[in-house]
Amino acid sequence: MSIIISLKKVKKQIGKEEILKDITLEIKKGEFVSIVGVSGSGKSSLLYIMGFLDKPSTGEVFFEGKKINYRNEEELSTIRNLKMGFIFQFHYLLPEFSALENVMAPMLKKGIPIPEAIVKSRKILKKVGLEGKEHRKPYQLSGGEQQRVAVARALANDPSVILADEPTGNLDSRNTEEVMNIFESINREGRTIIMVTHELYLAKRARRILRMKDGRVEEL
Ligand SMILES: Nc1ncnc2c1ncn2[C@@H]1O[C@H](COP(=O)(O)OP(=O)(O)OP(=O)(O)O)[C@@H](O)[C@H]1O
Ligand SMILES: [Mg+2]
Repeated sequence: MSIIISLKKVKKQIGKEEILKDITLEIKKGEFVSIVGVSGSGKSSLLYIMGFLDKPSTGEVFFEGKKINYRNEEELSTIRNLKMGFIFQFHYLLPEFSALENVMAPMLKKGIPIPEAIVKSRKILKKVGLEGKEHRKPYQLSGGEQQRVAVARALANDPSVILADEPTGNLDSRNTEEVMNIFESINREGRTIIMVTHELYLAKRARRILRMKDGRVEEL
């Protein structure tokens, strides 16, 4: 398997505090990796660096073998918008737009024509089990359904990597199970998944578990 994201001696310093300490890590294409660790151990900070939402203080980050130049904002946003799909604990859906429109938004931003975006978005919403609910607004959907719209939106531009920060943190066990099943199915399609969770039983469903501890990472 080829390496999709790699970190070399990455440190993140905020003020006097070193929140990531000398992290060297490789993520292979198609892997399903989970990140566990206590609150404040640096899980989100690491995820944001792996998703190019944040930059390290020192060290190098590579995407598909190419070293990231953090001064090249255009390159960074291309990777972020076209290669990465993000899912957070809170879904951040646009409240005034329907499920369909929320999924279409990243496609339209990329320049996909509206009719094509509609067809694609319907297909993705079907995949996450929301067929027939395309025109509902977030407030007309349950919490679990809202999170599935967020998963669909993350899949909009056919990303190679899905980064999820506590994606089931606000869900009951049934909805957690549904989101996990969707993750497993999109991983089978060959997408790389990196998921932060504090639940070890969920982390164990990934083939590889990383544990953050005081800004350092260890393989479990
Ligand atoms: N912008 C910031 N400014 C100052 N400190 C920060 C900032 N972001 C994170 N930190 C600190 O860095 C450490 C790691 O934070 P991070 O959010 O990565 O932890 P986490 O493992 O995701 O925790 P949680 O499980 O609570 O989400 C914490 O001590 C936090 O207070
Ligand atoms: Mg966090």
